[in-house]
Amino acid sequence: MPEYKLEVTTGDMKHGGTFDHIHLTLFGKDGQSERTELDNFGIDFTTGKVGTYILKTNSSLGKLLLIKVEKDPFFILPEDEWFCSKIVVTTPEGDVLLFPCYRWISRGELVELRGGRAMKVFEDDHPLLIEHRKQELTSKKSFYRWKILSEGLSHINHFNSPSELPAEVRFSESKSTEVTKTQNIMGLELKIKGLLGSTEKWESIDDLKEIFWFKKTTMSEYVAEHWKEDDFFGYQFLNSVNPNVIKSCSELPQNFPVTDEMVKQFLEKGNSLQSEIEKGNIFLYDQRIMDGIPTRLYDGEPLHVAAGLCLLYLNPENKLKPIAIQLSQQPSDQSPIFLPSDLETDWLLAKMFIKNADAIDHQAVQHLMKTHFLSEVYAVATLRSFPVIHPIYKLLFPHFRSTLHINTGGRTSLFGHDGALSISSLGYDGMTELMRKSLSEMTYSSLCLPDDITARGLDSIPNFYYRDDGLKLWKIINSFVKAVVEYYYPSDSEVKKDTELQEWISEIFTHGVLGNNASGFPSCFNTVEEVNKFITMVIFTATAQHAAVNSGQYDYNSWIPNASLLLHKPPPAAKGQSSMETILGTLPDVGETVSFVAILWLLSEQYTDEVPLGAYPEERFDEPAVKRMIKEFQGELSYLDEEIRARNSELEIPYTYLIPSQIENSVTI
Ligand code: FE2
Repeated sequence: MPEYKLEVTTGDMKHGGTFDHIHLTLFGKDGQSERTELDNFGIDFTTGKVGTYILKTNSSLGKLLLIKVEKDPFFILPEDEWFCSKIVVTTPEGDVLLFPCYRWISRGELVELRGGRAMKVFEDDHPLLIEHRKQELTSKKSFYRWKILSEGLSHINHFNSPSELPAEVRFSESKSTEVTKTQNIMGLELKIKGLLGSTEKWESIDDLKEIFWFKKTTMSEYVAEHWKEDDFFGYQFLNSVNPNVIKSCSELPQNFPVTDEMVKQFLEKGNSLQSEIEKGNIFLYDQRIMDGIPTRLYDGEPLHVAAGLCLLYLNPENKLKPIAIQLSQQPSDQSPIFLPSDLETDWLLAKMFIKNADAIDHQAVQHLMKTHFLSEVYAVATLRSFPVIHPIYKLLFPHFRSTLHINTGGRTSLFGHDGALSISSLGYDGMTELMRKSLSEMTYSSLCLPDDITARGLDSIPNFYYRDDGLKLWKIINSFVKAVVEYYYPSDSEVKKDTELQEWISEIFTHGVLGNNASGFPSCFNTVEEVNKFITMVIFTATAQHAAVNSGQYDYNSWIPNASLLLHKPPPAAKGQSSMETILGTLPDVGETVSFVAILWLLSEQYTDEVPLGAYPEERFDEPAVKRMIKEFQGELSYLDEEIRARNSELEIPYTYLIPSQIENSVTI
């Protein structure tokens, strides 16, 4: 009698095992097996266990197509879910096939697994597989649905809370517990200090250091000491949490009439502004996007966010320093151009308003909209468009593992009407409007790092570690993606006839950029090259780009004067009228400050079950060639890890956010 050897792996997470009965049925090209219970001596499905079973059939089943897994109750006990990781089958002919599962199975539930080589839609030729594929997609589409959060924003998944999410996209139990624990500890400590909810104003800048007694990092302390310095202000636009905004300035904007007279004292002796522009030493941060965005009312009066313009100079010591700031888009007597030679507090206030608008852009646009919400679009489109046997599903799913969970929860606690960010100067409505405006102007090329760096004219500016590390990561991710994609799509014709792949990109175009052709987003794929680039961008966004804008938030922004999401006074309309009092009155009050610090702590925490970039603990690919590609990818990442650490050891301020082993494999927090 032909024998099939089955190795069944139970997940090694808490409560992964079950006491329930498990039955399997094998389906092959030439027939099916009996429904057979997996039952060895002792307890079979304990956490982390690999059980080996023999299933006998009357004759060979031919090429193995599907495994049906059923779990029914053993005792009349509460639900006893089982996490089935994978089943490896050795056929009587000696073939070894991997059937990945990696999901919880509930009592009475029937799960059908496909195994072996990843298959595209036009490769399935057996009626059983064709039908199975069709049914899987129909049920996925009814299970994961699009929802409109607000007109003009990318669409989101339709679940209202993380507890409604299917287990395959929920946080592990340990992570959920840790997040709750961190929140509780934070609340408690801040209450003990009597800070949370306090409407007192700060009496001196140094008093803000009180907040740091429960958590400080080397960098947060550094920022508290150096935040007023001009070269540190400039440095942050290269290597802090928003390295995505400054551009090389080849011509001064008409609405920013900086004269040679104003700035020549800050340039190298004898040089004019025009000659420095021609040498490529002048950079611009134009906050035009903020112009006209409504702000929140505070005590019945609207708050103010500057739509500023900031000119930066790369000096002969390779330090990037601000040399002129205008805090609106319209030059006027009420909107003077501030200079480093102005009264110290005038200049400091001008920089604080630039950093306030920057912190808002960073949080709403660069962090939430461009990494969290776009990753969610890619995730939902992937879950809806591909069956689990599809190679692109296998490639991408690990990069969306926790995205729906964090976003669904974050839309209430962080980015909700009453979420933590609602106390920013813009409030919920202003932030939504800012995201809407930014999405309508967002381009595909701005999400592709090599294109973006060149478009911003930043190819050669020195000490730009985000660019240096980011481009290396882009290249490594791209080589891996190219290898995998070209393995499954040897020519453009495979791309064109893969209707599932075409539907995937079409869903992203429709629900992500709302069908906006001007975005440059593809709405279909014609070539393998286009697929390579797009998937590289998707993985880069969900991993490296998210880490770049997320991981340093506590380091750089917890010293609130350096980057506050809320300022209470309007931007200064005249020179020579400010003092330290003005600065203290402009800053958030004690309670507001503490709330911001608490959010940043939570967002920058690392959790114990973190999966780093390129680690794929769930084995989904069965092909040795692809397993080798994964190993090569991991090797390249670990080489880069060492390279960055060696570079950092020479730096006064190490740039750590793109160290590969510190980057998470999906947007998780
Ligand atoms: Fe994040």
